[in-house]
Order: sequence, then C-alpha cells, then structure tokens
Amino acid sequence: MREIKIGVLGLGVVGSGAVRILQENADAIAQRVGAKLVVKKIAVRSLDKPRAVSVDRALLTDDPYEVINDPEIEILAELIGGVEPAHEYVMRAIESGKNIITANKEMMAKAGHDLMEAAGAAKKDFFLEGSVAGGIPIVAAMKESLTGNQIREVMGIVNGTTNYILTKMTEEGAAFADVLAEAQAHGYAESDPTSDVDGFDAQYKIAILASIAFNSRVHVEDISAEGIRGIEARDIIVARELGYRIKLVAVAEQSANGKSMQVRVHPALLPLKHPLATVDDVFNAVLVRGDAVGDVMFYGRGAGSLPTGSAVVGDMVAAGRNILAASTGRIGCTCFEEKRMLSVDVLESRYYIRVRVDDRPKVLASIASIFGDNDVSIESVIQHLLPSAEAEIVWVTHLVREKHLRAALATITKLDAVRAVSNCIRVAE
Ligand SMILES: NC(=O)c1ccc[n+]([C@@H]2O[C@H](COP(=O)([O-])OP(=O)(O)OC[C@H]3O[C@@H](n4cnc5c(N)ncnc54)[C@H](OP(=O)(O)O)[C@@H]3O)[C@@H](O)[C@H]2O)c1
Repeated sequence: MREIKIGVLGLGVVGSGAVRILQENADAIAQRVGAKLVVKKIAVRSLDKPRAVSVDRALLTDDPYEVINDPEIEILAELIGGVEPAHEYVMRAIESGKNIITANKEMMAKAGHDLMEAAGAAKKDFFLEGSVAGGIPIVAAMKESLTGNQIREVMGIVNGTTNYILTKMTEEGAAFADVLAEAQAHGYAESDPTSDVDGFDAQYKIAILASIAFNSRVHVEDISAEGIRGIEARDIIVARELGYRIKLVAVAEQSANGKSMQVRVHPALLPLKHPLATVDDVFNAVLVRGDAVGDVMFYGRGAGSLPTGSAVVGDMVAAGRNILAASTGRIGCTCFEEKRMLSVDVLESRYYIRVRVDDRPKVLASIASIFGDNDVSIESVIQHLLPSAEAEIVWVTHLVREKHLRAALATITKLDAVRAVSNCIRVAE
C-alpha cells in the first residue's frame, strides 16, 4: 500500500494525541484513506522530555527545518502554538510543497490569511479543524455540508475553562476567584488565565468561525471581547431566579442584506430553554443558524489530547485522500467577500441590570424615569431587601441600543441613593 509521509511540529498535548490516534487506529485509517499515513519526523523543543505517547526516539528532532525541508513529507501538522515562530514555519512548509494541518487558533486568527492564500496559490490543502472547539467537527461542517446555506448566526460556548468556572459557580454558589483558584489547582485553568477568562481565546475562535460562516475576513481586533471576571455569585443566583443561566458566549451575526456583520464575545443570560443553556463543565457547543437548514447544534469536547487529536487526524485523512486523488487545494480560503464590521454600539440587545440602592422611597421611580428618558424600556423589575438599609433592584430591559443603555447607567450611577450598579449583562434570545 502507498505510504503518505507526515511531519509533525510539536509533541505536546495535541501532538501526542494525534500521534497516538495514528498509531492505535492505523489499519482502519489506512483503509479509509487508501494509503498508510506514516509519521516520518517530529520536531520538539526538548529531545529529553518524557512524552505522553511512545515514539521511536529516532523520529524526534529539535530542528523544525528538518521536518519542513524533508522532500518526502507531504503533510505537515503544526501543533506548536503561538503566532511566531509557528507562522514562519508554516509559510516555509507551504513553500516547500507541504499540505498543512494546524490546531493553532491564535496564529489563524491573527495571521492566518496570508498562509491560506499561499497554500491556495500552491494548490495545497490547508486544514484547521482542531483550532476551533477541539474535537467538534465544525469547520468542515461549515465549509462543506452547510455551504448551501446563508448562515445568519453562529453562537458558541467555545472556551472550556470559563464554562467550567461558570458551571461550578452555578452549582456551588461560589465566587469567581475561589473557583478559578480551584480550577488552576486541578489543571483546568492555566496559571495565567487571562486568555481564557478575559475572552481572548473565544475571540480567536469566533474570528475563525465568523470568517468561514460569512466568507469575509474578520480581524480579531474588531471583535469586542468581555470576559467573566465581573460575574458575581449573586448574579448567578438572581439569574437563576429569573429563569436564566449565565454563559460566556461568542456570537457572530450577519445583517439581513448580507452586507455587514457583528462579532463579539461576552457573558450572557441564556433562557433555560436555549440550546446552549445546558452545555456545562468543560464542554463546548456551537449553534449555527442557516437560512435553509434552520438551527444546527454541535456539541462535544472543546479541548484535550485525544479530542483535538481526533480533529487533527481527520484533517490528515482528508489531505491524504486529496493527495491520492491529485485534488489538494480543492477547498481553499473561503473569504471572497468583504463585509463591514458593525460596532457593538449599534447593537440592540436585552439587558439584565443589578443595582444596589439605599432602601428609601422613590428610588425605584427615579431610576425608572432615567431609563425612560434614555429610550430604555423595561420588561421586568424585581426588588430584594438587603441588610444595612440597602435594597437590590434587578431590571430586565426590552431590546435597547447599547449606547442608550450606557448613557442611562452613567446618569443612574450619579444618583445619591445608588450605591453601585453591580452588573449589567446581555440577555440572549
Ligand atoms: N491543548 C488543547 O487542548 C488544545 C485544544 C485545541 C487547540 N490547541 C492548540 O494546539 C496547539 C498546541 O497546543 P498544545 O496544548 O499541544 O501545546 P503544548 O502541550 O505546549 O505543546 C507544544 C509542543 O510544541 C513544541 N514546541 C514549542 N515550540 C517549539 C519550537 N519552536 N520548535 C519545535 N517545537 C516546539 C513543544 O516541545 P517540547 O514538548 O519539547 O516543549 C511541545 O511538544 C496550540 O496552537 C493550541 O492552541 C490545543
């Protein structure tokens, strides 16, 4: 049987998962491709490090160019991470005639466009399934199975760490900082959690998903990102009373005329009947709304060695089949339009607003009148008495413009009786 030689850059969490799958399912994979996928070389940083998968020591090198420049290698998997030197390595690998697989969301969101163009010009495959939502096959679904649709919206829970933290806060009534510390102790959160908890990881992933969904390049810096540091245990309790769960969502919407889009990451109150409301723990899910198919939901493990390895190996199989059929580069970059990115200021949304006030007459009425003056119309309001002569008022608005809401809150904050606007969170439909 013909052999297709594979080169791998990186043998960490994802690299070792992919190599293990190639070893354990070798026969079935060979049948499915019609050729054996054989790992010929693997570049790592440290040759002496213990590995989670057993590999012949002779395959390892600490010189990535030994992999990149090997003329026998037809498929190169970049599983290093970060923008540089990964981007440079991938560009050189395309120039040396390789088909590329990557799981690198940061590189793809910040600097992926020129790589995809270079691969397209060279008629080589460039697959990135592992870069979004780990093992969930969302990229291939959007690029192939759903291409008959105009995709109106993509909404996802695409960061497992924050979903785990919010789930724990919900189940245990615990504070964000305590759950984060516990997640770090268990290895579910990085020692520097910024990329996850401040929404940057989700921002990279929705940049990739939106580009594919709307066929338009999305610049990561145009995506507003708000993380979950500001979510208090009290918000989760009150949201539950109102019939909602709080989740960190990544949202990409296309305007009705298809000329513009809006992409953002933020915490949101989801009604319990929302398909994403019950996606808990480290799980990810992506909801795609197409004009023909309606709602389609993809659910699964958004990270981890074997789940992400599954996505990487799936891409290798696709590239292997294309190599045999002499059809690599068949599905290249799909960003052939330029859509305008709308600012989050023009967005209309419903909001949950929790305000702490002095417990005295007419406070509720004064706040209501400020909302009215700023075109913020109220759907419901509840009031709780708190200790020390305080009250908590929770408002849920109808659809309002973000800038009108901000103007109202700026005035409300100045009222004598208002001790704090404790939180303001979007309510998703
Ligand atoms: N972890 C996940 O669950 C997950 C899920 C989806 C996507 N991803 C993405 O997959 C990629 C890899 O993540 P990971 O978690 O597998 O990372 P990781 O565990 O830190 O592994 C990185 C690997 O790359 C090697 N490496 C780093 N810099 C190198 C260089 N300059 N030259 C050669 N080798 C180098 C490291 O070598 P040493 O082992 O010798 O240090 C290590 O084997 C990232 O883009 C990440 O965002 C990860």
